[in-house]
Amino acid sequence: LQSSRVLVTGGAGFIGSNFILYMLKKYQEEINIINVDCLTYAGNLENLKEVEHRKNYKFLKVDVCDKKAILNIFQTYDIDRVIHFAAESHVDRSIRNPEVFVNTNVLGTLNLLNAAKLAWETEDGFKPGKKYLQVSTDEVYGALEGEEGYFYETTPLDPHSPYSASKTSADLMVKSYVDTFHFPANITRCSNNYGPYQFPEKLIPLMINNALNGKKLPVYGTGKNVRDWLYVEDHCKAIDLVAEKGRVGEVYNVGGHNEKKNIEIVTMIIDTLLEMLSAKDPRRKLISHDLITYVEDRKGHDFRYAIAPDKIKAELGWEPETPFSEGIKRTIAWYLEHMEWMERITKGEYQKYYEKMYRM
Ligand code: NAD
Ligand code: TYD
Repeated sequence: LQSSRVLVTGGAGFIGSNFILYMLKKYQEEINIINVDCLTYAGNLENLKEVEHRKNYKFLKVDVCDKKAILNIFQTYDIDRVIHFAAESHVDRSIRNPEVFVNTNVLGTLNLLNAAKLAWETEDGFKPGKKYLQVSTDEVYGALEGEEGYFYETTPLDPHSPYSASKTSADLMVKSYVDTFHFPANITRCSNNYGPYQFPEKLIPLMINNALNGKKLPVYGTGKNVRDWLYVEDHCKAIDLVAEKGRVGEVYNVGGHNEKKNIEIVTMIIDTLLEMLSAKDPRRKLISHDLITYVEDRKGHDFRYAIAPDKIKAELGWEPETPFSEGIKRTIAWYLEHMEWMERITKGEYQKYYEKMYRM
């Protein structure tokens, strides 16, 4: 490990908290993590309870758009790595309210780039060993129309939703810093993640939660849209690897090799829940395929996403390790064991945790 001080933004969100837990487990005391998150509805510090008292972990409640606060962090800590997760991440919300997506995803990224550049630049370039990693998405490539083909790093950017347009804009700001200043950055673009701690607005946790409560399972349009699902821990491994070994300035696509139609996912969730819950469990009676309800389609709904992670495999030896059949069982088991986590989210109680924990 070349870096010891890692600034993680959005570390209280789904992938960010999985990443922090993964890194602290992997590197133990060798690493220092500073988690910068402003705790929007999607930020849940309870995800990080088991590490919050560690000396090499620090949480700062800061908005990535706050120029002064971000500059101050770079002046206070000698940051080696930036792993930038913080974002507004939900497509449906971006269709209703795009403005916050531009603020956080585009201007927030620009603010971080500027602060890192200022802290890292020398007279003839940048301090050695520094790296900025932009966590992006396959949605910047737009949509694949038929059943065939993949997104490659060379696929033209063609975003459709306000969310993907904001992520693309952020990627282009990063690219412009690489091209203009030789700024030491990488961009990773990954497919749909699933696993523990995902906020129940996204397909998989929403369906698990609704099914366990006997609520309808809303499938958009025909249910035939395809997503490529990646187990979150596999994604965390890819990010760590790219931050350490990725060639400066390069983009790496990170895919799960696991394309599924939405309706297949929903069906699998129902079947797996029925398999896992004991006959005596009262929740079992609530669950059936009759809960599936086709609803109005998402506006501009991208048909299919699929990534061939050839470049990251060839250059860095990364491959998705977790088969979907196993990952989905692990995920459902986690949600079954953490019903209280879900309850606190649906009641909004998790949002009081910061005041209680940090007394501010
Ligand atoms: P999430 O919505 O679960 O978490 C986002 C986190 O960022 C939250 O903790 C939130 O409080 C924080 N945040 C939001 N605005 C902020 C701001 N202005 N300042 C500081 N913190 C702020 O998101 P996620 O699913 O964990 O996604 C993380 C990153 O990965 C995002 O950049 C997203 O675009 C990208 N990504 C996600 C997926 C996926 O399937 N979830 C797929 C590809 C790429
Ligand atoms: P989502 O989890 O929102 O991720 P993204 O839109 O970024 O890929 O949605 C995944 C797929 O599931 C997408 O095709 C939309 C669909 N979907 C539903 O059918 N019903 C739902 O309630 C949700 C949230 C999503």
